Amino acid sequence: MDLLIREAQLEDAEAIVSILNPIIKAGVYTALSTPFSVEAEREFILNFPPRGIFHVAVCEHTQKVVGFQNTEPFATYTRAFDHVGVIGTYVELCYRRQGIGRSLFQATFEAALGKGYEKLSAFVRADNIASLAAYLSQGFRIIGTAHRQAKINGKYVDEILIERFL
Ligand SMILES: CC(C)(COP(=O)(O)OP(=O)(O)OC[C@H]1O[C@@H](n2cnc3c(N)ncnc32)[C@H](O)[C@@H]1OP(=O)(O)O)[C@@H](O)C(=O)NCCC(=O)NCCS
Repeated sequence: MDLLIREAQLEDAEAIVSILNPIIKAGVYTALSTPFSVEAEREFILNFPPRGIFHVAVCEHTQKVVGFQNTEPFATYTRAFDHVGVIGTYVELCYRRQGIGRSLFQATFEAALGKGYEKLSAFVRADNIASLAAYLSQGFRIIGTAHRQAKINGKYVDEILIERFL
């Protein structure tokens, strides 16, 4: 699939929730538990931190948004973590394993360097083998496991902490 990776705009809110909400509702990919309204997503885009990076992947042929990835500063209460970003990646379920994630990572790594980040980190559900494989394929390494870090529908799920130096 030929892709254009560009910054997310307010008008992408509807497409983004139409990708994210089925992933949340599936209950097996993310620790996010509650679907987002289009309005809430618009607010999220509007208030996205200036040092954040929010990319969407658009299919050149259909002009449809097929995935997105965002990176936010790890913390803002100290300058000590300014070089660390937290990354999240979501691809429309029916378009997985077609290189969309890979293209998003490429663009985000470049933008992150430009914004002064030196490393990116993320938590991945320990039972999300595909996501872990995707991040490891992009140079992330496993730091460790946070046991029983999430409780989803009454069931504990471990989370794997990963990082990648840029
Ligand atoms: C995880 C996710 C973002 C990966 O994006 P993607 O577009 O499917 O990944 P890509 O096609 O770019 O794959 C890149 C590489 O990652 C690895 N990979 C991706 N999916 C994999 C899978 N199911 N099994 C094994 N390796 C996988 C492979 O090395 C792959 O390269 P290859 O296809 O040339 O072998 C996507 O599957 C997704 O959004 N899943 C649902 C939501 C989710 O789990 N988000 C992450 C929350 S932490």
